[in-house]
Amino acid sequence: MSISTLKVTESRANLLDESNIQFGKLYSDHMLIADYEDGEWKAPQILPYGDITMSPSTTFIHYGQAIFEGIKAYKTESGEVKIFRPHDNWKRFNISAERMAMPEIPEEIFIQGLKELIELDKNWVPNSYGCSLYIRPFMFATDEFIGVKPAEKFRFMIITSPAGAYYSKPTRIYLQKEYIRAFPGGIGFTKAAGNYGAAMLPSKKIKEMGYDQILWVDGVEHKYVQEIGTMNVFFVIGNTVITPDLTAGTILAGVTRASIIQLLKEKGIAVEERPLSIDEILEASKKGTLKEAFGAGTAAVIAPICELNYEGEIVHLPEESTWEISAMIKKELADIRHGHIPDTHNWMFTVC
Ligand code: COI
Repeated sequence: MSISTLKVTESRANLLDESNIQFGKLYSDHMLIADYEDGEWKAPQILPYGDITMSPSTTFIHYGQAIFEGIKAYKTESGEVKIFRPHDNWKRFNISAERMAMPEIPEEIFIQGLKELIELDKNWVPNSYGCSLYIRPFMFATDEFIGVKPAEKFRFMIITSPAGAYYSKPTRIYLQKEYIRAFPGGIGFTKAAGNYGAAMLPSKKIKEMGYDQILWVDGVEHKYVQEIGTMNVFFVIGNTVITPDLTAGTILAGVTRASIIQLLKEKGIAVEERPLSIDEILEASKKGTLKEAFGAGTAAVIAPICELNYEGEIVHLPEESTWEISAMIKKELADIRHGHIPDTHNWMFTVC
């Protein structure tokens, strides 16, 4: 499928200040749009980044049939631009689409679209180690109809935005049982917009209490940890790295999560994907075996946790300078992404 391109007359890439990148504030010159109508995807277009207009009756505004992804492109030392594991995000996008009764997006639009868009905006990919171009593919239902039914028309888009560190310091976490992020049979395993919208009120409440992120627990027994904020979560207890398993369908199958697990296993470090209760974490903290805890996701990559508040009981993690596992994995991921070490897993997709 050929992608038509209308280029900007003047690039805004000079606005990119690599010493001060704020997540999601500045968008690169171009965006991709593809529409789905009459049971098929129409040819995608790359256009100057700008506003889109829509009818007030557009269905996703009312009923939330909308999904997204997060991916990152990096610059290597030799100046090549590469995207980290985009095919995994493409597959997950289609898993989200299926659950939300939305059409599958073909590889030739998602992957080829990414390639052409990023190549055109390659001057927006930061050079600095640890910085990247955050890529946001998304799809929403565009029927002009407020009757409640699965839509028939959809729009797929990709926008991109330079990214630096997501969190500048270790995060303080609040575990609360009042609000539940996901439950079996729900949409916790998808990147559906509603998962994030429903988290806004609980996040606002804990931020007012001085915390950065919520540690979500399961919706049945309210005692097994699930995710932290918008990330997967890992705990290092003794010499074992533990992360909640994906079997109940309540947790997003993170691409960063999968990469971390694979790298750890290859190093012979014990990794367990299994239910992890808050009691086990509190007990490990009391015994002094809780060594590290961190969130993992595309945007933040690895976000160390320094404190956990559970119903007033405060768990302090050891000083981050003593952490070995997460620091090692964080560096290894960055080294692979920036081409400092060989990409033995074929995770990097070359754009140009
Ligand atoms: C990501 O890490 O890509 C996320 O989902 C976080 C995003 C909502 C900013």
